[in-house]
Amino acid sequence: MADTVYELYPHPGRHHPLKNLYLDQLRTLPTDNLPFIYSNFIASLDGRIALPAKGRRSHQVPPAIANDRDWRLFQELAAQADLLITSGRYFRQSAATESQSELPLGKAREFDDLRAWRIEQGLRPQPDIAVFSASLDIPLETLDHYRGRRLFLITGRQADADKLRTLSAAGRMQVIHCGDQREVDASTLKQQLQPYGYRRVYAIAGPSVLHTLVSGQALDRLYHSTAHCLLGGKEFDTFVWGEQLQPAFAMPLRAMYLDSSSPPGCGQTLAVYGR
Ligand SMILES: NC(=O)c1ccc[n+]([C@@H]2O[C@H](COP(=O)([O-])OP(=O)(O)OC[C@H]3O[C@@H](n4cnc5c(N)ncnc54)[C@H](OP(=O)(O)O)[C@@H]3O)[C@@H](O)[C@H]2O)c1
Repeated sequence: MADTVYELYPHPGRHHPLKNLYLDQLRTLPTDNLPFIYSNFIASLDGRIALPAKGRRSHQVPPAIANDRDWRLFQELAAQADLLITSGRYFRQSAATESQSELPLGKAREFDDLRAWRIEQGLRPQPDIAVFSASLDIPLETLDHYRGRRLFLITGRQADADKLRTLSAAGRMQVIHCGDQREVDASTLKQQLQPYGYRRVYAIAGPSVLHTLVSGQALDRLYHSTAHCLLGGKEFDTFVWGEQLQPAFAMPLRAMYLDSSSPPGCGQTLAVYGR
């Protein structure tokens, strides 16, 4: 049954259409009225999320694990977001035309239904964008592409004042300071975003941003796809990168599905952790 996935937990044995599996997942949120922050990664069995790519300076999601079905779920999570969290690295890579895609929601026809769904729900056509950066090396021209969306720059108080002025000039980006260092301390992030009315915040950056969110006790839920293959490699990214987390950050299992059809020949499990 190629268009379905098999539920392993909490109600094993049921089949669900893959399409719209993650849509509506965030309808009911905890009642604390704070932004609810969720993230999503696809990894191999040996925990790789990115490997060096031929002809590129940066790493990319390995083609052996990237797949349309996981990408659809990624877009469904974005369809529910009021705000995306991305990184300065994304905009630099985008300037070097190495970024793997535009920021969601995707404009491809296959996501027409998701864009229409947002409008039906009374959401803005596209989620706003928050950029984590300590270096503030963000090419200005890359921001033009997102003119219709509100752009925030999330950085620490020690960030370079001149670069901050340039990025915030003419209302290009609104600055939110989190923490007294150059890097973001995410322990006050939710409180700082709350006045803007954001409830669903989707972190689509990489392992350092995820580590920052976890260290600041700001991550609520993780959607984690595991492609059932081994990639090896000595130079790789995994999905959390930073100092050891002590105590370990607990993420209880909420749901798990088996998708036997993709990637071809191995399949993947789709797991949801956290609250
Ligand atoms: N398989 C997957 O699901 C998946 C998902 C996401 C990413 N990836 C891959 O993972 C690789 C690494 O991702 P990445 O480098 O974008 O992500 P990242 O490790 O999260 O960090 C990228 C940038 O985010 C900013 N940042 C991170 N923590 C910060 C903090 N505490 N304070 C201020 N700024 C902070 C920094 O920007 P500045 O340098 O501007 O200061 C940093 O360079 C990429 O190859 C990407 O394609 C894979």
